[in-house]
Amino acid sequence: MTLSTPTIEPRYFRDVIGHLPTGVTVVAGREPATGAPAGLVVGTFQSLSLDPPLVTFSVATSSSSWPKIRSGHFSASVLADGQHDVCRAMSSKQVDKFAQLDWSESAEGCPQINGAHAWIDCKAVHELEGGDHVIVVAEVLRLEAGHGQPLIFHRGQLGTYHQPQS
Ligand SMILES: Cc1cc2nc3c(=O)[nH]c(=O)nc-3n(C[C@H](O)[C@H](O)[C@H](O)COP(=O)(O)O)c2cc1C
Repeated sequence: MTLSTPTIEPRYFRDVIGHLPTGVTVVAGREPATGAPAGLVVGTFQSLSLDPPLVTFSVATSSSSWPKIRSGHFSASVLADGQHDVCRAMSSKQVDKFAQLDWSESAEGCPQINGAHAWIDCKAVHELEGGDHVIVVAEVLRLEAGHGQPLIFHRGQLGTYHQPQS
């Protein structure tokens, strides 16, 4: 990708882009060789297409977890309010991120976070270059709404969105 990049300090870019609130989603699967669970937190998970049903998110090229699960199915758990500890564990560099977490298995055997706000079972179909990230495009196999309110990431902080009472 050839870009005429203006000089924008990465820190300033982060500060301003951080004004855009995002959801907090755990993308998790299993290492094909060992069956060990692996995954990471992404704030970039979003819908891409209705027909066919596709989602997208971006992963840093430095991610150690995505290469472990990219070839198989994965499950995306949209975290709910109160799941700050899950976010901390899954965005860490711990060896076993799942050790202290409450999770179960999707139909394909991928780790799903219990008590999440929604679950989306997927299979990656494309990876596109995106600077220091890759843009993952994945097809949706099945999905289910969960509980509570979503966990939100805004300006470097985790918070909650409360739906107005109707
Ligand atoms: C709220 C939040 C959103 C994040 N969004 C992304 C993202 O969209 N893409 C990404 O690659 N990393 C994102 N991260 C960082 C990864 O979760 C973190 O770097 C993780 O430790 C990567 O671990 P790995 O080396 O095990 O893949 C986010 C972290 C947090 C806390």
